[in-house]
Amino acid sequence: MPDSSLAISAAQPELARQAAELAAELGLPLMAQRPGAQAVLTLSAERLALVATGPDAPGPIAVDFAAGSLRHRRRGGHNEPLGRAVGIHKWPGLSVVDATAGLGRDSFVLADLGCQLTLLEREPVVFALLRDGLRRGRLSEDAWVAQVCQRMSLLRADARDWLAGQTVDVVYLDPMFPARRKSARVKKEMWLFQQLLENADSSAGLLEAALSAAQKRVVVKRPAKAPALEGEQPAFQLPGKTVRFDVYLPEGDR
Ligand SMILES: C[S@@+](CC[C@H](N)C(=O)[O-])C[C@H]1O[C@@H](n2cnc3c(N)ncnc32)[C@H](O)[C@@H]1O
Repeated sequence: MPDSSLAISAAQPELARQAAELAAELGLPLMAQRPGAQAVLTLSAERLALVATGPDAPGPIAVDFAAGSLRHRRRGGHNEPLGRAVGIHKWPGLSVVDATAGLGRDSFVLADLGCQLTLLEREPVVFALLRDGLRRGRLSEDAWVAQVCQRMSLLRADARDWLAGQTVDVVYLDPMFPARRKSARVKKEMWLFQQLLENADSSAGLLEAALSAAQKRVVVKRPAKAPALEGEQPAFQLPGKTVRFDVYLPEGDR
C-alpha cells in the first residue's frame, strides 16, 4: 500500500495525543492530513485496528490472541508439525527467532509449546498491530493467553539486518501470503499483506541471513506444492495438506 493511502486516527478525542505520537513513531500522517486514505489505523480505548475504507474493503484487522481461532491450536493441536519442525521434542524450551512475525499466530503456537520467541517485523503497520495485540494479550484475564504472550518479545527490524552477526537457536521464516482459502479471516489477512507488501521484495536474502545465525535449525513455511525457498534444498521436509515445513540444519549437521 503506498504510504499516501494510509493514515492514523483516534476513535475518541481523548486519544488524539496518543494517535499523534503513534503517527510520529510510524512515520504516517494523521487522518486530518490525509482525508482520502484507503485504510486507517484506528486507535480506540480497546485496541488498535486497521480499518479499510473502500467499497470492497474487508472488516477491521486487529491482533487478538484470545480469539477462538487460536484456542483450537492450543498445545500443538493440528499444528504439531510446526513444533516438530523447530525440534521442540529434542530441545524443550528452545529460543526461536520468528523473523517474519506478521500477525504473530505461528509465534503464539510455538510460545504455547514452551519456546521463547523473539518476533521481528519490519512493516510499521503490521508491527503496530502486533505490538498492540501482545500488550493486550499479556494483560488478558485468560491466564493461558497471558502466560504464552509473556514468552514473546517483539522488535521492529528488518530480519536481514538484525540477524547479521547474531547467534540464535532456531530461525523461523514464513515469507508467504496466507493460503487462498475462503474464510473471512484469511481474506482479510490476504488483503492486508497484499496491500502492504505489494512492492516489497520480502524474501530475498532472508534464508541466507537465517542460515548464518541459526545454531540448531532454520525452518521455512511453504505452500505444500511450492518449490524450496530460493531454490535451496532443505535437509528434510514435514509435509501437510496446505503447507509444509522445510528444515535446514547448520553446516556441521548437514
Ligand atoms: C506471511 S506474513 C507472516 C505470518 C505469520 N507467520 C503469522 O503466523 O501471522 C510475513 C510477514 O513477514 C514480514 N517480513 C517480510 N520480510 C521481512 C524482513 N526481511 N524482516 C522482517 N519482517 C519481514 C512481512 O512484513 C509480513 O508481515
